[in-house]
Amino acid sequence: MSKKLFIETLGCAMNVRDSEHMIAQLNQKEPYELTDKIEDADLIIINTCSVREKPVAKLFSEIGVFNKQKKPTAKIGVAGCTASHLGEEIIKRAPSVDFVLGARNVSKITEVVDKKHAVEIDIDYDESTYAFGEYRTNPFKAMVNISIGCDKSCTFCIVPATRGDEISIPSRLIVGEITKAVLGGAKEVMLLGQNVNHYGRRFSDVNEEACDFTGLLQKISKIEGLERIRFTSPHPLHMDDAFLEEFASNPKICKQIHVPLQSGSTALLKAMKRGYSKEWFLNRCEKIRTLCPEATISTDIIVGFPGESDEDFEDTMDVLEKVRFDQVFSFKYSPRPHTEAATFENQVDEKIASQRLTRLQDRHMQMLSEMMDEQLGKEHWVYFDELKPNGRVAGRSDDGKLVFVKGSEELLGKIKKVRITHTSRAALDGELV
Ligand code: 5AD
Ligand code: SF4
Repeated sequence: MSKKLFIETLGCAMNVRDSEHMIAQLNQKEPYELTDKIEDADLIIINTCSVREKPVAKLFSEIGVFNKQKKPTAKIGVAGCTASHLGEEIIKRAPSVDFVLGARNVSKITEVVDKKHAVEIDIDYDESTYAFGEYRTNPFKAMVNISIGCDKSCTFCIVPATRGDEISIPSRLIVGEITKAVLGGAKEVMLLGQNVNHYGRRFSDVNEEACDFTGLLQKISKIEGLERIRFTSPHPLHMDDAFLEEFASNPKICKQIHVPLQSGSTALLKAMKRGYSKEWFLNRCEKIRTLCPEATISTDIIVGFPGESDEDFEDTMDVLEKVRFDQVFSFKYSPRPHTEAATFENQVDEKIASQRLTRLQDRHMQMLSEMMDEQLGKEHWVYFDELKPNGRVAGRSDDGKLVFVKGSEELLGKIKKVRITHTSRAALDGELV
């Protein structure tokens, strides 16, 4: 009988792919069946995120709950970014944890799983050419890493400390992995990296043939049977014209782009060490709109960064008005260990940060309602990839909107034209044309 694995994945798409990698590696050792019941599991893995403080605080209470509910023989492992940053301290605070596996060490899962209190958190460990086993949560869409780590030093961000220096994965491995996924039925790929458009600046083999992100996109788009390419996340600083022209003109690249703003104030961007100004950000978004008016633009915004004045925040609101983002992921600044900004003296009052966050989110919700209402009667090519209850099937439009239609499994894995018949802020309903 196969063992049962409960795996909880927090954080970003990178973590989702890391969880898939761990499932694949474990299955190469012995068969594991996924379960969503703690009581049934033989192995429990929490794949953590440390980008903000809240989920880290939640981790320890969750370990306590899992420890009470689990079978006495079941093991608990903590993986991911919090594992990297807290390491052994996790076991000291929660001795029921059997192993700790850092974000850049997921290939070692089969080694640590049987070692009591193993801790593997080396942030210099190079997994850029590791041949992971194959496991995909969704056979219609493949997530493929193009780089590991991050070379930036944004002053708010813990990620360089948890995922280490950036190393690009050789393009032949990326193309090979996507080709395999396409042969397995995937028509779409999501390219993953902390900073995808910085691709190619460092490979672990210095003789690796030069290839930047635009070149990589061109290589990938030659893969036969692959119809859609998405990527996350690019950095506004590296959005040069060649990249934006490729984005706009390559028919396989989905017209959805994430442009993480963080702040609209040039002074704050400087304090964040983002490397661009408000003007550069607006200029890049204008360029996207000019080259590709149908593209949707999403963003990340932090409010209450140390030193944020009312004027700074108004600059952020101004960018919000000017760009009209389709999606905004907004966060209250959370001081993180190993980051420069945590030592800044001018921390913003919690209440003011909360008020700013509410104002930003309310305004974005208004804009989103207007934008989604405009979708009524429009037609989209939708790639269906998930069966939903009540005879519905879900998919994504080329520009990344969630669309539901009535239908059954035969729609899965197909790209069909849909006319929108009903709109809400979160999703669209439609009928096949
Ligand atoms: N506090 C709040 N938000 C943060 N992010 C990263 N670090 C912090 C922090 N210390 C946000 C950024 C990033 C997203 C993944 O999380 O907006 O783009
Ligand atoms: Fe992903 Fe960053 Fe969270 Fe790590 S800290 S899981 S890289 S969002």
